[in-house]
Amino acid sequence: MNKLPPTGSIEIAPSILSADFSRLASHIAEIEAEVTMLHLDVMDGHFVPNITFGPGLVKWIRPKSKLFFDTHLMISDPIKYAPEFIKAGSDFITFHLEIESDPMDVINTIRDHGAGVGISIKPKTPVESLEAVIGEVDMVLLMTVEPGFGGQSFIPESVERCEQLKKMLRPDQRLEVDGGIDADTAPLITVAGADALVAGNAIFAQSSPTEAIGKILQSCSP
Ligand code: DX5
Ligand code: ZN
Repeated sequence: MNKLPPTGSIEIAPSILSADFSRLASHIAEIEAEVTMLHLDVMDGHFVPNITFGPGLVKWIRPKSKLFFDTHLMISDPIKYAPEFIKAGSDFITFHLEIESDPMDVINTIRDHGAGVGISIKPKTPVESLEAVIGEVDMVLLMTVEPGFGGQSFIPESVERCEQLKKMLRPDQRLEVDGGIDADTAPLITVAGADALVAGNAIFAQSSPTEAIGKILQSCSP
């Protein structure tokens, strides 16, 4: 199982949500040498108003890539499904604080199956609501758009939320942002403390995904 890259670098996590699924393997091969993380957006049509894919897809792409599979579960029942994703090849599971289960039960289930754990909050969830569990996870994922769809505009208030969250995290914990990240928004959010940048539209919807990754990285290098 791949480990979350230790803090100290800015990592780009391309989201396959914006890829052409009929040629997914070639999309992944194209970016394989440019990044360490691949972001997998799982939606159940219940927690969010959209449906993507299940563990079956992870199982198919696992032999084709050595990247760190950063799996974002936008689903209502992660306790039931996280083990299936880990068995299929997910290295890391992020779930949402807004679900009904006790977050500690979800964290323990994911750890028991050997994967790293992240917790995510939607744009309207107060940052303070993470206080009780933030010490128990490897990464926090701050949604910078309402979860459900790619290609939305970055919510500007996310910058201040990111700064607040950064103060609540230990130096060894990562802070990932997700939604509307491109070469314009990446510098704003990395200055605020984000060190893992999910980008779908800004990478896979571009004619050259590798050049697009370079542009985002360049935009936030000091
Ligand atoms: C949205 C997903 C994102 C999405 C981001 O609910 O969690 O990971 O792929 O897409 P862009 O980068 O296009 O905003
Ligand atoms: Zn995501």
